[in-house]
Amino acid sequence: MSGLLAGKRLLVTGVITDASIAFSVAKLAQENGAQVVLTGYGRLSLVERIAKRLPEPAPVIEVDVTNTEHLANLADRVREHVDGLDGVVHSIGFAPQSCLGGGFLDAPWEDVATALHVSTYSYKSLAMAALPLMSAGGAVVGLTFDATKAWPVYDWMGVAKAGLESASRYLALHLGKQGIRSNLVAAGPLRTIAAKSIPGFDQFEDAWTERAPLGWNLTDQEPAARACLALLSDWFPATTGEIVHVDGGYHAIGA
Ligand SMILES: NC(=O)c1ccc[n+]([C@@H]2O[C@H](COP(=O)([O-])OP(=O)(O)OC[C@H]3O[C@@H](n4cnc5c(N)ncnc54)[C@H](O)[C@@H]3O)[C@@H](O)[C@H]2O)c1
Repeated sequence: MSGLLAGKRLLVTGVITDASIAFSVAKLAQENGAQVVLTGYGRLSLVERIAKRLPEPAPVIEVDVTNTEHLANLADRVREHVDGLDGVVHSIGFAPQSCLGGGFLDAPWEDVATALHVSTYSYKSLAMAALPLMSAGGAVVGLTFDATKAWPVYDWMGVAKAGLESASRYLALHLGKQGIRSNLVAAGPLRTIAAKSIPGFDQFEDAWTERAPLGWNLTDQEPAARACLALLSDWFPATTGEIVHVDGGYHAIGA
């Protein structure tokens, strides 16, 4: 097997449609020599149907990151398909509607708690659930949306992403001794189900289309997926706690 990820065994979360960033990661990873196990949330039969569009068959196991039982037996269920893991991709985000689209001042704690549980805390819980299968050289990679700024409609999801960025640094700190890296890709806006659930998302689309120095394609998940592959590969052996921007350069300009 040849390719950037030849022989690597990956757990990829977050596929719900073929527009999911995770779908592009899984597809490119297979094309580059990796063996992929997917996790699905909720609509398992839909995820299984989408998985059939990958170049190679990929098993799907059910994981709701807020379900402690799913996490407790995750390693055993993954072991039914692969004998270990070299990488874990966290491509999961959710916030109730009250938390988005300008609702920052009114969103109740219960809704904010859900957003933080699914989008922030789960980065650590997923990594820990997979840890028994991992060894030195392994990598955890997640997806963020630049949380250094307050965006007009991102609200509590922005806070959740700021927490995710910090959680990734702490994971890097705590798993570094075991030789396991934790890095994030900060993607620009992409038209996925998660993005469409944000009222006013078109504001991001317009901003990126007008201002990203390299230009920005709202329907091309591949650049973000390629960065995930690079971070999962052996070509970033001494990089952890890092955030790689894949946003056409938008973060670098003042606008
Ligand atoms: N689309 C964008 O513009 C964009 C930009 C930057 C970062 N991101 C991030 O990329 C990641 C993937 O999102 P996407 O844009 O591909 O959208 P998507 O809707 O395709 O994927 C989101 C995934 O989260 C999963 N999920 C939600 N709740 C879950 C739970 N409780 N347990 C397990 N899985 C759960 C969904 O099933 C879905 O597969 C998210 O972290 C998102 O915030 C997206």
